[in-house]
Amino acid sequence: MKWSARRAALVLGLAGLGALGLWRARERLAAALLDWGMAPLDRLGLARLRARTVGPAAGRVLEIGVGTGRNFGLYQKARLVVALDPDLTLLAQAARQARRERRPVYLVAGRAEALPFRSAAFDTVVATLVFCTVGDPAQGLAEVRRVLAPGGELRLLEHVRAPWPWLAVLQERLTPLWQRLAGGCHLDRETATLVRAAGFTLETVRPHLGGLLLEIVARPA
Ligand SMILES: C[S@@+](CC[C@H](N)C(=O)[O-])C[C@H]1O[C@@H](n2cnc3c(N)ncnc32)[C@H](O)[C@@H]1O
Repeated sequence: MKWSARRAALVLGLAGLGALGLWRARERLAAALLDWGMAPLDRLGLARLRARTVGPAAGRVLEIGVGTGRNFGLYQKARLVVALDPDLTLLAQAARQARRERRPVYLVAGRAEALPFRSAAFDTVVATLVFCTVGDPAQGLAEVRRVLAPGGELRLLEHVRAPWPWLAVLQERLTPLWQRLAGGCHLDRETATLVRAAGFTLETVRPHLGGLLLEIVARPA
């Protein structure tokens, strides 16, 4: 069979579309896995901790790393919620969730390390299970401090490096593999230390699961 340039272009185009389809399917699968993975954890008690972190967030709220929008229904005091995530597939799912909420939720594509907002734009910044994954958490927290209004509040729920040395060493060893499996998640992040180093005063650090999970409330120092 003789291959004309047109036929070759057609085949290449179809292969490209197929690859794109597979890539999108992979992204959609990752989004579904995030939701399926979170659902049992929420039933096991994570939902209660989410509610404690998210519920009191007041005024103009920025939620970083919203994922599929599992927290949207938990806001009690927010006037409006701006919800940021770098993953467009997750944001599309979050958008569907946002349409069911009674308070305004505005979705924005972006990363913690370069927040696309003016300084002092928010009264509260919220993140649940996010700073384990942020590529440069120090830069991300510096950005959070910048966009928080004076007297504003940072409310986090994060899994962190274990307080027991043997488990912390295990977390360190497992992190390179885990990062690949779990979208860049670090098991051994010392998030409370990073928050303090970014210029915050820690008001509350409430440990759960023997210190593997922390509720953190902090304000710019
Ligand atoms: C484990 S999921 C948690 C999702 C959601 N917060 C929850 O509690 O269900 C981590 C989220 O952080 C987002 N993320 C990863 N890197 C980020 C970054 N640099 N800035 C902001 N969000 C990021 C991911 O896209 C993902 O949605």
